[in-house]
Amino acid sequence: MTLYRACYLHTPASPFESEQALKVEPDGGLLVQGGRIVASGPYADLRAAHPDEEQADLRGGLLLPGFIDTHVHFPQVRIIGGLGVPLLDWLDQFALPEEARFADDAYAAAVAREFVAGLIGSGTTSALVFGSHFAGAVDLLFGEASRVGLRAAAGLVVSDRLLRTELHTTPQRAYDEGKALIEKWHGRGNNLYAVTPRFSLSASEGMLESCAALMSEFPDVRFTSHINENLREIETVRGLFPGSRDYLDTYERAGLVTPRSVLAHNVHPQPRELHAMAAQRCTAAHCPCSNSALGSGMFALKRHVRAGVHVSLGSDVGGGTGFSLLKEGLQAYFMQQLQGADGLPLTPAHLLYLCTRAGAQALGLEDQVGDFGVGKQFDAVLFRPDPGSTLHAVLTHAASPERALASLFANGTQADVARVWIGGEGVYARPQVTP
Ligand code: GUN
Ligand code: ZN
Repeated sequence: MTLYRACYLHTPASPFESEQALKVEPDGGLLVQGGRIVASGPYADLRAAHPDEEQADLRGGLLLPGFIDTHVHFPQVRIIGGLGVPLLDWLDQFALPEEARFADDAYAAAVAREFVAGLIGSGTTSALVFGSHFAGAVDLLFGEASRVGLRAAAGLVVSDRLLRTELHTTPQRAYDEGKALIEKWHGRGNNLYAVTPRFSLSASEGMLESCAALMSEFPDVRFTSHINENLREIETVRGLFPGSRDYLDTYERAGLVTPRSVLAHNVHPQPRELHAMAAQRCTAAHCPCSNSALGSGMFALKRHVRAGVHVSLGSDVGGGTGFSLLKEGLQAYFMQQLQGADGLPLTPAHLLYLCTRAGAQALGLEDQVGDFGVGKQFDAVLFRPDPGSTLHAVLTHAASPERALASLFANGTQADVARVWIGGEGVYARPQVTP
C-alpha cells in the first residue's frame, strides 16, 4: 500500500446538479492498494490510522483525477495547427491526406507512440479515440495503449462515400474487421472497442446498419461519431438522408443513439435532437478549441444542460489545437462568457468535472475512474509547475485550492504536468531539466 499526501481536488458529483460538487483536501491523503483507492481524507487522519505505510509526498502541487478526453483522433497528431479553413476544406486539405498514410504500418506505429505519449504527457489517462480507417493501424494503436497503460476506447473508422477512395470500405468489410478487432481488444487490459462511423456524410445507410449489427452483437462496446458540427456539413447530410428528420435521426434510425454513444460537437442542434439525446441518455462531446479553430460555431451548453443532455469534453486533435484538457476547459469557459445571456457561466468546479467525471460517465466508466472516491482506480495527474514559473508564483499565493484550480486552468500547460498514474502505476514523470 502507498499513502499519497497531496493537496487534491475532485468532483464526485456534477456541479451542473449540485453546488457542493467540488471536494477539496488541502492536505489530503489517498491510500492506494493494488491500484485502487482504499481510504481517503485528511492526511493526518490517514497517517494516524496507517502509521507504517509507505508514503509518497506530492505536496507543492495540485493532484487531480486523471483527465478523460472523449473525442480525439489518433491519425491527426502530425497535422495539429491546420488553421484558417472550415471543416470540409480542412478534411480535404489536411486530415484526409494524412489519414491515408496509415495504410503503412510503420508510419502508424510511429504516430501511435506520439499519440499515446501526447495524451499521457498532458495528464489524460482515459480517451475515446477515433482510430484509423485501416485495421492494421487500429491494432497498432491498441498495442501501444496497452504497452503504456492508457485506458483507450477506440475503433476502426468506417466510411463508404465522399472521402478519398483509399479511405472507403464496404459494410461487410467494416463488420468483419470491426468484429476481429473487438474479439482481440475489447475488454483486454484497459482497452474498450468503440464502433466508429466517421459521420453520416461519409457513411451510407448500409454502413450505419453494419455498425448497428456490431453494436447488437457486442452489447458492451461503445459508439462514437460526429454530429452537427458545421452548417455546410449539416446541409450535405440533409441532402443525403431525405427521409431523416434531422442529423441525429440518421444515427437514431439505425439504432446507434444509446447510453453508450458519444456524439462529438453538436454545435448546431435542433430542439428535437436535444430532446432525443436526453431521452436516449447519450453524450455530446464538446470540443471548444476545435470549434474555434475551424470556426464551427458557439456550443450551446445551456441548451444542452437545460434539455438534460450529458456533456463531456474532447480535444478533437487535430481539428483541436493540442492534447491539453486544461486548454479545452479554459476555451469552454471563454466561449460561455462570450455568449452573454445565452452562455452558462462555468466555475473551476465545472471545468474540473468536464475534464474528469463527465468523461468517465460518457464512457460508462464512472464506477472505476473520474474521481478519488474509495474503490476507484488511482488514475491521477499531479500539476506542479517549475519553481520560477509564473504559475508557480500564482499557485504559491493562491487564496484557496479552488482559486489555485482556476489559476491552473487559466495559466497551466502540458509543461506543468509533473507525474501521471493509471491504476496506481506511474506512467509519466516529467524529465528533470538541468539549466
Ligand atoms: N467530421 C468528420 N471527420 C472529422 C474530423 O476528423 N474532425 C472533425 N473535427 N470533424 C469531423
Ligand atoms: Zn472529431
